[in-house]
Amino acid sequence: MKLGIIGLGVIGREFVAAIDRLPGVTLTAVCDASPARLEEYAGQQIATYTSHTDLISARDCEAVIVALPNHVHGPVVSDLLGAGLHVCCEKPLTLDPAEAAELVRKAEEHGVLLRTAFHRRFNRNLLSLRDDIATRDAAVRSVKVRYHEDIREHTGGEDWYLDRDRCGGGCIVDNGPNALDMARVVVGELTLRDVTLGDVRKGMEHYAVLDLEGGAGEEVRVELDWAFTAGEAKDIEVTLTDGSVLSADMLEGFTEFKSSLAHEYVGIVDDFVSGVADDTAHPDQLALVRIVHDALERGRRKHVRLRMPSKLPVRTSVVRLLFHETVRRGMLLAHAGSACIRAGDIHELVVTREDTDVAGARIDHVAYLGFIEFLDPAMLTRGDTFWIGDRKLGVFAGYDESHLPNHLNLILSADRLVTAEDIDLRPQDVIIVREGPQREFRESADPGAWTNQAPQR
Ligand SMILES: NC(=O)c1ccc[n+]([C@@H]2O[C@H](COP(=O)([O-])OP(=O)(O)OC[C@H]3O[C@@H](n4cnc5c(N)ncnc54)[C@H](O)[C@@H]3O)[C@@H](O)[C@H]2O)c1
Repeated sequence: MKLGIIGLGVIGREFVAAIDRLPGVTLTAVCDASPARLEEYAGQQIATYTSHTDLISARDCEAVIVALPNHVHGPVVSDLLGAGLHVCCEKPLTLDPAEAAELVRKAEEHGVLLRTAFHRRFNRNLLSLRDDIATRDAAVRSVKVRYHEDIREHTGGEDWYLDRDRCGGGCIVDNGPNALDMARVVVGELTLRDVTLGDVRKGMEHYAVLDLEGGAGEEVRVELDWAFTAGEAKDIEVTLTDGSVLSADMLEGFTEFKSSLAHEYVGIVDDFVSGVADDTAHPDQLALVRIVHDALERGRRKHVRLRMPSKLPVRTSVVRLLFHETVRRGMLLAHAGSACIRAGDIHELVVTREDTDVAGARIDHVAYLGFIEFLDPAMLTRGDTFWIGDRKLGVFAGYDESHLPNHLNLILSADRLVTAEDIDLRPQDVIIVREGPQREFRESADPGAWTNQAPQR
């Protein structure tokens, strides 16, 4: 089979080496917008082009590998398919599910194969893990994939990776497809349940945690890190229903940087070429495009960001201690989950073990810690934590307004009810409020519950 490659950067070179190692496949054309990247092919039996349209017109290959920056995948692949060429495109095929669906449609219309290059599915350690699981009596209960690297070590000096317009996003776009595909090898098609992004620099996500479900309801967690400074970690851990834990490290046995890619890219090209020869039906190109797209949409809308504090710790000082507990206090959690407090303001601090997750919840059983003066201005949010030294007093659940305009009752949710005397609190002790993961209220079953009912005293 005569193959062409468009894009001769870091990964294009992996494809060149893979083609070299496979019998029955010949590299007949290469294309790169940078003439310098074509120089080493001068004088060989390989045609060179600086434009993919010239490669198409020359008709010296029947199938083409696309190893270009992400933002040009869609238009170039579309031109190739339209010209009746089989295409194997690097991930992500595109970022827009509608555009990806159009490419799949075009491949069908022209009777050619379209594949996305997911290299980890050919990793020998992952394949042995899959085979090992198949021999077990127990089913898979959960899967955890880690894909951790320092992106600066992987870009080959190219700046498009760190440009949202050209890469499309950070680690979810770049590493997400391969990491998700690793989980797919074990549990089949995935459904996205939740995603949290973090460590966003100039709009590019450097950290992400995705929670998904496998084909048979298996729990799947994929953790992506683009700012991992301790080398690389690319592995998968599988827990079976009998409690046994199996794992595979994609890099084990490959001591040189990126050396696992050689056998994985041979796998991609071999699979692509056999797919063309056997007229294999298109595997689902779209599933991971949709998941990456949805993960970005959901994650970018969320309030929470991982590894990114949005405020400094706030100091407060105890001005009066309280030592009592009540069982029918009837506080009402205001349905706002945050409170802005000026430096110098004084508020009351109470602790409860009751359910504080419902908007407007009534809180009866409380223990009193005392009154605190805010030494710094504060924007308290549900989920913030209150600390005295290294002891956590509780998690800020909201406030009750029954003592306004005098003060707010700040309600902490805790495992144990404590008063000032239980923890040996003293006047002028410093209590620190630290940012925590923000918590949304659950919908109240009874909407009347958070109207302005007078609290029962
Ligand atoms: N680098 C990796 O480790 C790695 C791993 C897996 C997948 N990928 C994927 O492979 C693709 C390429 O990544 P890379 O790291 O090789 O990028 P790269 O920047 O190293 O190489 C891209 C090449 O494409 C050329 N180019 C850009 N626009 C062009 C155009 N319109 N026409 C022709 N040539 C053009 C550039 O001159 C460059 O040589 C990306 O989609 C990436 O997600 C990369």
